[in-house]
Order: sequence, then C-alpha cells, then structure tokens
Amino acid sequence: MSGRLIVISNRIPTEAEPSGGLVVAMHAALCNHGGIWIGAHPEVTEAPSSHLEEIGDQTSYTRLAFRIAQREHEEFYLGFANSVLWPVCHRRGDLVDLKRSFETTYGEVNKRLARLIMEVVEPEDLIWIQDYHFFPLASELRKLGFEGRLGFFLHIPFPALGDLGALPQTANLADWLADYDLVGLQTRADVARCLEMFRAQRRAEVMLDGRIKYGARVFSVRSFPIGIDVDTFVKAATEGCDSADLGDDLKEEYIIGVDRLDYSKGLPNRFRSFAQYLEKRPNKDRRVSLLQIAPPTREEVTAYRQIRVELEELAGRLNGQHAELDWTPLRYIHRNIDRNLLAKLYRGARVGMVTPLADGMNLVAKEYIAAQDPEDPGVLVLSQLAGAAEDLTEALLVNPYDIEGMAEAIAKALDMPLAERKRRYAACMTMVDKTDVAIWCKSFIAALEACEAPLAWGT
Ligand code: UDP
Ligand code: G6P
Repeated sequence: MSGRLIVISNRIPTEAEPSGGLVVAMHAALCNHGGIWIGAHPEVTEAPSSHLEEIGDQTSYTRLAFRIAQREHEEFYLGFANSVLWPVCHRRGDLVDLKRSFETTYGEVNKRLARLIMEVVEPEDLIWIQDYHFFPLASELRKLGFEGRLGFFLHIPFPALGDLGALPQTANLADWLADYDLVGLQTRADVARCLEMFRAQRRAEVMLDGRIKYGARVFSVRSFPIGIDVDTFVKAATEGCDSADLGDDLKEEYIIGVDRLDYSKGLPNRFRSFAQYLEKRPNKDRRVSLLQIAPPTREEVTAYRQIRVELEELAGRLNGQHAELDWTPLRYIHRNIDRNLLAKLYRGARVGMVTPLADGMNLVAKEYIAAQDPEDPGVLVLSQLAGAAEDLTEALLVNPYDIEGMAEAIAKALDMPLAERKRRYAACMTMVDKTDVAIWCKSFIAALEACEAPLAWGT
C-alpha cells in the first residue's frame, strides 16, 4: 500500500485497564502492520481537546489520542454508544435509553474527531474506522473533503431490520455506512442483515456483484471474521508455567468462563445451567468447579450495575446450595486478569464455556481452542448466537436460553471420549488458524485497496 494505515477506534490500548476484543485484535494487527492508531484518551477532562496528542512508547505503531470531556463521556460513550447502539445491536431494545442530548453529542464528537483527523491525514492514506462509536465518521470526513479510501469494521452484531426501529430518526445507519468504500462485518449472517436493511431503502440497489449503489455512492459490504494472534497465544499457553503452578484449587477439574460483565454475555444463564448440572450429576463425589472471570465494564450504565447484582446473588445462592466444607464449586472473579495468565487457565480447563446471548465474534472462544493441548484437549461449549459459531461448528453448540440443554452439554463435555475431543479440537483449530488476526487485517486492507476509486459524494 502506498499511504499509511490510519486506524480509528474509541478504545486504544493503554497501561490503564483493558481491553476487550477490539483492542486485543487491533493491537496484534498493528504490531504486524504498523501505522497510526487514533483513539480516546483514557482520562476524561474538563474541556474536549482541540488537537491529537501522542501517547505511549509503542514502537511498532504510533498512538494519537483525543480527549473527551466529562459531558461527552456521559452522552456520547455511556449514552448514545452504550445505552442506544449497543443494546440495539445486541437485541436488547428493552434496555435502550433515548435522550436527545445523546444523539446530539454523538454527532458532535464524530464531527470534532473528523476535524482532528483531517489535520494529520494525507490524501493517499487509508483510513480504517472501528466500531459503533463512529458510524458517522466517514460522512463527516467526506464533508471536510477527504477523498481517499475509507473502511469501516463493526465488531458487534449488525442489528436486525426489526430492531433498527428502536433507533432515533437521526440515526440513519444506511446514510452513515454509504460514505465508506468498504464495510466489514464479522459474519455472513451480519452481512445478510445489513443487505436486508439496504434492500428496504428506496435509494439503495444491491447489485449483482454484491456491491451496493446508494444515491451517487457505490460501496461493498463483506464479512471478515476477526481472530487472534494464534502463535503468540499458543506460546503464552504453553511456556513459562505448569497448570499445577496456578494454585491448589485448580489441580481439580474445572470449567472456565471469561467475559466482561456485560448483559450480552449470558452469565446468569450460564450460572443457572452449572447449578442444574451440579444438581443432576450422577456422581456426587465428582468435584468440577466453574471458574468465572468477569471484569467490570461500563459500570456507570444502570443495566451493567443490575447484571452485576443479579450475578452476585446467583453466585451466592449456588455456592450456598452446593459448596462443601472443603470445596467451593463456583469461583467468581470480578477483576481483569492478564491474558498471559488467562492462556494458562484456559489450558488447564476441561471445558470452556462461551455462552453469550448475542456477540459479534467472541475471541475468548478462539483463545480457549488455541490454548489446548492437542494430545488431551478440553471441550468448547459455544453459544450458537456468538459470531464464532459460524466457523467453530465442531464446538459443542448450545442455545444459551436453554438452561437444561446447557447443563446436558456440560455433562457431555466432561465425559467426552478422547478421540471425539481430539477430532472436535482439530476441526476448531483449523478455523482458528484460518482466521488469524494477521489474515483478518491483511484481507480487509487488500479489499479496501481494491475498491474502485470513490464516486462523487454530496451530490
Ligand atoms: N480479557 C482479558 N482479561 C480479562 C478478560 C478478558 O485480557 O480478565 C480479554 C480476552 O482474553 C479477550 C478479550 O479480552 O481477548 C475479550 O474479547 P471478546 O471478543 O471475547 O469479548 P468483548 O469483550 O470484546 O466483548
Ligand atoms: C467490545 C466492543 C469494543 C469495546 C470493547 C470493550 O469489544 O466491540 O468497541 O472497546 O467491547 O468495551 P469498552 O466500552 O470498555 O471500550
């Protein structure tokens, strides 16, 4: 590619707390590829910034940050992004909190960011915008005269046509997306939903080659399933320490779950299914525990505080009913755990439970597979509603609303014969390899470069 790669996302990696799939994947991709990563400074300030500042001492790529003011944090990030767009995309219209100020500030932050980007961008640069915080950024950049290639990748599910009705009228996804040259989505099902939205628009024509004509613009929508840096993760799982070093408790059989404490992750259902497994297990002497790591996320939003209370109640009840004097069946950790340690915890776990009610991809599913010992692999129990299920079809697929079905899947996973475990692991690992994050990044950039020169806009 001739110009530089410029990636924009709200969250950027910092020494301060984490993370989530976007940062994990993009960091790995940019370490390989190099470029500039622009994102929000982790510290909220009094006044919004009027320039980009370089942060960190990362050598493989440059990080530039813009500062968000407290009001913007509340109305743009907690408000429109995480109390409107997030629930709409995760089929939770009941949790949508619509306020005029949220829409207005969302628009203003996107406008301001476009101006800041224009100060550093050069005509031949390739701009790749990430996620729902910045749907309208292409339109704002086009208004300011940017004529180069603009790509977008949505890390979360594309909403169903019916759910879009919960968005305010000013949030016109079709208008926003049409100003990109390439819109990347996680799965084929996401692409189908996106095309369904465009087919319902009078201005849009889905052409035979799959591209979309929308007014004067022509652009593409394609799936690019995101993945992990496989080699690095396998190394992290196998080098340095033995699972026996992880503590006495983890010498016994355990199941692992790793999720931000988000209502989309289906944690209450997982706890209920584990409780049901414990009740029904034929051999009461078999002590299998569930290690659930669930770091806090977006706690200023009411729905996130509520899910925490619900989960803590369930955890207390479960342990109250099933614990023994010398055994605690559920270990629940409400803290972020370093990924290198996670890798080893995955490897020691007989079962990995990834059971979201809705999820764009879910990197934890791929990490669990990559961490396994090929000669004695554990079993991935995976929600059919996670994007990862489109490719990891040999995981033990479950419906996360079916508590009994999940309890049965836990029992089946724990008793699965070695030959079947190896077969399922090998099939999943092939897909994890095929979707390595370096391939994701390269194929998106290649597709963006191959897009025809942008047609006139604003006509
Ligand atoms: N993660 C982590 N420490 C934790 C919990 C999660 O490093 O305590 C990482 C995890 O290894 C994975 C990412 O955060 O790489 C979560 O990505 P995923 O796609 O599963 O979910 P998201 O949080 O993006 O919804
Ligand atoms: C998901 C989203 C990301 C987000 C991450 C963590 O992975 O797709 O855009 O960064 O969750 O959420 P947070 O609100 O802490 O950035």
